[in-house]
Amino acid sequence: MADGVSRRLEKLRDEIRRHERLYYVDNSPEISDSQFDALMRELVDLESKHPELVTEDSPALRVGGEPADELKPVAHNPNVPMLSLDNAYSLGELEEFGGRLVKNLGEEPACTVEPKIDGLGVSLIYEDGVFVQGATRGDGVTGEEVTANLRTIHSIPLRVHPPRGLKRFEVRGEVYMPRDAFESVNSQREAEGLALFANPRNCAAGSLRQLDPKVTASRNLDMFVYAFIPTGQDGRPVKVVDSHHAAMALLAAMGFKQAGVKLCKGMKEVAEEVARFGGKRDTLGFDVDGVVVKVDSYRLQAELGATSKFPRWAIAFKYPAQQATTRVLDIQVQVGRTGALTPVAILEPVEISGSTVARATLHNEDEIRRKDIRIGDTVFVEKGGEVIPKVVKVVESKRTGAERVFHMPQKCPACGSAVFRPEGEVVARCAGSACPAQLLEKLRHFSSRGAMDIEHVGPALIEQLLARGLVHDVSGLYRLRRDDLTGLERMADKSADNVMEAINKSRAQPLHRLLFALGIRYVGARVAKILAKNFDSMDSLAKASEAELKAIPEIGPSVAQSVVVFFAQESNVRLVESLREAGVNLKGDKKASGGALAGKQFVITGTLASMGRNEAKESIESMGGRVTSAVSKKTDYVVAGADPGSKVEKAGELGVKIIGEKEFLDLLGQK
Ligand code: IVH
Repeated sequence: MADGVSRRLEKLRDEIRRHERLYYVDNSPEISDSQFDALMRELVDLESKHPELVTEDSPALRVGGEPADELKPVAHNPNVPMLSLDNAYSLGELEEFGGRLVKNLGEEPACTVEPKIDGLGVSLIYEDGVFVQGATRGDGVTGEEVTANLRTIHSIPLRVHPPRGLKRFEVRGEVYMPRDAFESVNSQREAEGLALFANPRNCAAGSLRQLDPKVTASRNLDMFVYAFIPTGQDGRPVKVVDSHHAAMALLAAMGFKQAGVKLCKGMKEVAEEVARFGGKRDTLGFDVDGVVVKVDSYRLQAELGATSKFPRWAIAFKYPAQQATTRVLDIQVQVGRTGALTPVAILEPVEISGSTVARATLHNEDEIRRKDIRIGDTVFVEKGGEVIPKVVKVVESKRTGAERVFHMPQKCPACGSAVFRPEGEVVARCAGSACPAQLLEKLRHFSSRGAMDIEHVGPALIEQLLARGLVHDVSGLYRLRRDDLTGLERMADKSADNVMEAINKSRAQPLHRLLFALGIRYVGARVAKILAKNFDSMDSLAKASEAELKAIPEIGPSVAQSVVVFFAQESNVRLVESLREAGVNLKGDKKASGGALAGKQFVITGTLASMGRNEAKESIESMGGRVTSAVSKKTDYVVAGADPGSKVEKAGELGVKIIGEKEFLDLLGQK
């Protein structure tokens, strides 16, 4: 009996796979939707009765399995990181790329041209022909595991026939949301009173990075593939074909969907293809933000190599941004987390390349004067790739005389404090130290995904917390009690538990996230990582001098100064203290080797009998400590050798501990 079921299951799956490919990849179905649904129902039904016979490659998994607790990190193949692409914004820049190829290769290579899909990069791993693991690109080295979610995308084959003997290979491509699917997700969300996705790319990312695969399954995502990486047992790439276009043909034969690759003999043909594709890119039904030009031959690709960010054998050509005209209904002022006031144009909503634009940043008052943008004006608005829409210029012929000139308010629209604009700066700021709008933005940034990543703590909740005086700074989040939350609007017991748990979990976030979350000027996510790597704790970072910070490769003078200024401010020191009390992790990534002198600051004065200055310095540093030249309150020890200078007196005045050579050797563990 079980044998009969097995056979029926296998036959059903094969049949469904064939129809899936015909429908979702080849666009030429042989049966009606309802016939297909009937087959799928039979499969799901049979599998639910015989769970022991469910396989990893069963199309029944398309409906989405059990929700996960978290998205786990996955390391991409270290031999082939997921690089990004260099951009060309004009035909001139594309020609320069061609010029570099000729210069480096001594010949003009054949190149492929293919659409650059505006979605998110993913990696699919196949073993013995079965799709076993899928991940997002992430930072190119590590992504998030989203296998179950990717299985719900019908055009991703769950089982394929790989070339003979190839046990393992990876396919990379772009998951995207077709425009019509995007419209339907948003109109449904609108009906449910949920926040709308700004564009298909955000919607695709939000739909794929889901804990519940059933949500992903409901979103009609799709995928185009753009790279094939066959690998040996050791993970190193092996040779199966020798060019990109041959790899794409092979992928097509295996049933992977692709957006179309055109092989061109040289740069002249590339330019023609770029122009031809530009003419039709609005008619595709999905967002394309350009084309990718790739050197076709793998041998030549290897010869050209890559920088740390992108390959030298490929470039993304971006078409000029798209524009539309619309009216400026109002100019409002937004208060940022540093108190900066940014004027924003509220626009009559207008469609630009598939998404609706209703706001555009005007940057600052000078910019508004320069472009002479008035309330009521008809303006050109531009949207290009990643950037926020911007107002390009005013259509002066449309002026009626009823337009109003904008003036920066004298008082902060959020808290009524004075607005000031420091001499020589373009940005006006709110002077209020307790401005709720600033605080809102600070908290929003603090809990955002790139920072402390506190799920469930979004703008709506933060607004309520502030309005009720439940938090006064970011550390206040850690003092919230469950009872504080249950009294809030739309906060069921379960939601309160989720919020508490998310806040609690964030206490353990690595230091670099906290540093970024604090919003120290010039400390972005990347700089925060560098700082956390170079210090073993927040305390040693707080003690670091400008010179020490500048000595770290990649840390420039503005960052160094800004960090020192931040920790010199009493209110920030107090904030760090309350975070410490709240049990927030303040430990850095740097492990001091001996650990014994971790974070300790030394000043050496006078002559040591047993070692030279440099040797002493190296010994201290090898144990995690640091040596500076001037004595300050931050100094932990002054090591006084023979004939010490005035530094000893200074140390006495400041109450810094003075030790002799013997004690110093004890500290170093050398006697
Ligand atoms: S090739 C090493 N081809 O664009 C080559 N990428 O800006 C890197 N993308 O991370 C990728 N369409 O997610 C390639 N036809 C295409 C693409 C494409 C979209 C994405 C991809 C990549 C990003 C780089």
